[in-house]
Amino acid sequence: MFEARGISKSFRVAGRDVPVLKDLHCKLPSRSVSLITGRSGEGKSTLLSLLAGLDFPDAGELLFQGDVMPSSAMGRMADWRRNRVGVLFQHFNLLPSWTILQNIEAALITGGMGCAERLLRSHDWLKRVGLDHRHDHLPSQLSVGQQQLAALARVMAAEPQVILADEPCADVDPETGEAIQRHLLEFVRAGNGTLVVASHGTFPQELADCVFQLSGHPIDS
Ligand SMILES: Nc1ncnc2c1ncn2[C@@H]1O[C@H](COP(=O)(O)OP(=O)(O)OP(=O)(O)O)[C@@H](O)[C@H]1O
Ligand SMILES: [Mg+2]
Repeated sequence: MFEARGISKSFRVAGRDVPVLKDLHCKLPSRSVSLITGRSGEGKSTLLSLLAGLDFPDAGELLFQGDVMPSSAMGRMADWRRNRVGVLFQHFNLLPSWTILQNIEAALITGGMGCAERLLRSHDWLKRVGLDHRHDHLPSQLSVGQQQLAALARVMAAEPQVILADEPCADVDPETGEAIQRHLLEFVRAGNGTLVVASHGTFPQELADCVFQLSGHPIDS
């Protein structure tokens, strides 16, 4: 499970601190679906990036399975995250000059998988999300929703223990959103994975085992 103990996070913008998370405590259980919800600007993506170890809190500590997560050394953090945590980014973060097949294959390299297996698994996941016929397309040659599906295939193919999914259904039609939800729920129910979703409303609350509401004061409210 993830546990946040009194974490705070601010950003320094134009010479002043913008507080985003203040003394936040939460527990997000393993092998289940946790949903972080709240209005735009409340800090959902910020919290997810802290859980992913892509950024660090200014104060407080984060624990994973009872161990305090590395809080500054980037090398240690990359080791911690490798093959364990998959991140589905709100803006996908697909490498723009690589095809979607190459994007997925690249995510499998650190798992020590052979070339043939990487290719097979990447095609398999592209098929599962309905994009195999587009495997040689660049992200920019896909619609935004199709990029969302390619990013889902990339994260699922790597078979992490934990998926942190930031607005996984925000850019797709309702039917495609349901397909994305099914893949993510299957990851938890059949594969014993841990799923943390951040969403301002497009991921149904009833699918979550645990809902954590961020309720600070969004900067623009
Ligand atoms: N890199 C950054 N530099 C400066 N400020 C930032 C940065 N990242 C986030 N913020 C600030 O943190 C606040 C929270 O941003 P965040 O992206 O976490 O919100 P969110 O809850 O995910 O919103 P949304 O629902 O729109 O995705 C923003 O209002 C922004 O001002
Ligand atoms: Mg966000």
